[in-house]
Amino acid sequence: MSTPFVFSGQVMVAILALTWTVAQSQSITGNSTGLLVKGLCPIVKLAKNFNTTSFAGSWYRVGGLPNYEERSVNCTIYNYVDTGSGFFVESTGVARNGDPTIQNKTLVTVTPGIARYSTHVRDIEAEMVVLGTDFVTYACLFTCYNFQGTHKVMFAWIFSRKSTLSRANIALCQKHFVAVGVPINNLRGTYQGPKCGHQ
Ligand SMILES: *[C@@H]1O[C@H](CO)[C@@H](O)[C@H](O)[C@H]1NC(C)=O
Ligand SMILES: *[C@@H]1O[C@H](CO)[C@@H](O)[C@H](O)[C@H]1NC(C)=O
Ligand SMILES: *[C@@H]1O[C@H](CO)[C@@H](O)[C@H](O)[C@H]1NC(C)=O
Ligand SMILES: *[C@@H]1O[C@H](CO)[C@@H](O)[C@H](O)[C@H]1NC(C)=O
Repeated sequence: MSTPFVFSGQVMVAILALTWTVAQSQSITGNSTGLLVKGLCPIVKLAKNFNTTSFAGSWYRVGGLPNYEERSVNCTIYNYVDTGSGFFVESTGVARNGDPTIQNKTLVTVTPGIARYSTHVRDIEAEMVVLGTDFVTYACLFTCYNFQGTHKVMFAWIFSRKSTLSRANIALCQKHFVAVGVPINNLRGTYQGPKCGHQ
């Protein structure tokens, strides 16, 4: 069984020839900003050598969990600006109604050298972590917050320095996501094709 990576409702690439055991996640259709799942957020262990300077710059969103927090749904590019205490992130792209959109976000370093940032999802304080990156090709990001003591709201993103990303790197992110309980069947590709007008 392969896991489909879906773009705009269509299967884009079947990535892995492995069967991923999707955590017993009971996705609830709800009114949350991200993916609402039963259970509590995991405690994510991270390496201690994260280089903020190397992570700065532009990242294309090649996929992730759909969420209602981001205004941009297509052609999304993030610009990570190193603030010395984390990042200022400006997102540009195309909104659901087809209009260009800009949104920004502040990420504040919790412990220097560790890719754990505090941020806000609307009014809720949440953590954003970089689960994996090689700084020059790909990055896998994750945010989670607990909700009403019984559920968690999850966000996940696959970033690339280019508008495309190899299957192997997408698969690396999927492994990271599985480890923190992201139901990877819910991952969707983000359109980054010619209509985006990237160079
Ligand atoms: C969904 O959220 C909106 C605003 O965030 C709120 O006005 C509405 O009442 C909520 N609906 C439900 C069913 O919780
Ligand atoms: C972090 O990366 C920058 C440039 O990418 C480099 O100049 C710097 O030495 C690195 N810092 C550490 C602590 O490795
Ligand atoms: C994203 O762009 C593609 C290609 O132009 C289009 O088919 C799709 O409807 C867009 N998706 C959204 C959510 O606007
Ligand atoms: C960040 O976005 C908000 C809302 O769109 C805007 O009001 C603000 O000026 C932006 N800040 C910067 C520094 O771009």
